[in-house]
Amino acid sequence: MSELNLILLGPPGSGKGTQGERLQEDFHLPYYATGDILRAAVSEGTELGTTAKQHMDEGGLVPDDVIIGVIGERVESPEAADGFILDGFPRTIGQAEALGEEMEKLNRSLTAVVLIDTDDEEVIRRLGGRRTCAKNGHIFHVEFDPPKNEDVCDVCGARLIIRDDDKPEVIAKRLDTYHSQTEPLVAYYEEKGILKRVDGSQSPDDVGDRIRALLATLRLEEEL
Ligand code: AP5
Repeated sequence: MSELNLILLGPPGSGKGTQGERLQEDFHLPYYATGDILRAAVSEGTELGTTAKQHMDEGGLVPDDVIIGVIGERVESPEAADGFILDGFPRTIGQAEALGEEMEKLNRSLTAVVLIDTDDEEVIRRLGGRRTCAKNGHIFHVEFDPPKNEDVCDVCGARLIIRDDDKPEVIAKRLDTYHSQTEPLVAYYEEKGILKRVDGSQSPDDVGDRIRALLATLRLEEEL
């Protein structure tokens, strides 16, 4: 494939971060996860972090004008010249339109938008048990992907933490936000013919295999 410009779309807890980490290893492309970028800004106490924190704690979205610039400068950076993987962006029609304009300006196009289709009940089970490495961001689940030692990262030995927005009342708000503001992107990208659905209820390995298979199909189609 000449260029792989990929978006991972799906509700909170659908596995975007889990699959993003795998895809990044497979394709060696820059991976831009807006949630991770915003959490880093919050912990560094930057102006972006201060603006973002309240929205994140409440399960709402950071304003479009704030986040669009953050992603725009990464997409047009030299490291993203051969492609990129976006996780958590776009999340509104306004963000999708801004990304479309950015791609047009760069004379590039999106390869695919992979929707990791997962229902609300499963989301609640997953986010309730998520543990994240405080140092490298690796994601675990107490039941579905437990660390070898409780609350310790298998990869680097750092402490595992529970995210502030994984409290039950914030999870409910994040799901509402997803259905009202982000889910309309499914129809938006379906209309553009680049939406690819993956059944997110399967195991992480099966979801990963499915995504790899659909990217391989796109590569074959491109060669025809
Ligand atoms: P963000 O960090 O992007 O949160 P999110 O979209 O809610 O997604 P999550 O990171 O919670 O879940 P995920 O899909 O990555 O699932 P994961 O792989 O971790 O955003 C946080 C906040 O930042 C937003 O609420 C908003 O305020 C703000 N924000 C971010 N982007 C923004 C934007 N563009 N505009 C405005 N505001 C923005 O998996 C979850 C758990 O399930 C893990 O424990 C994992 O081990 C487990 N798991 C994963 N896959 C499977 C599987 N197949 N089977 C069983 N368990 C699995």
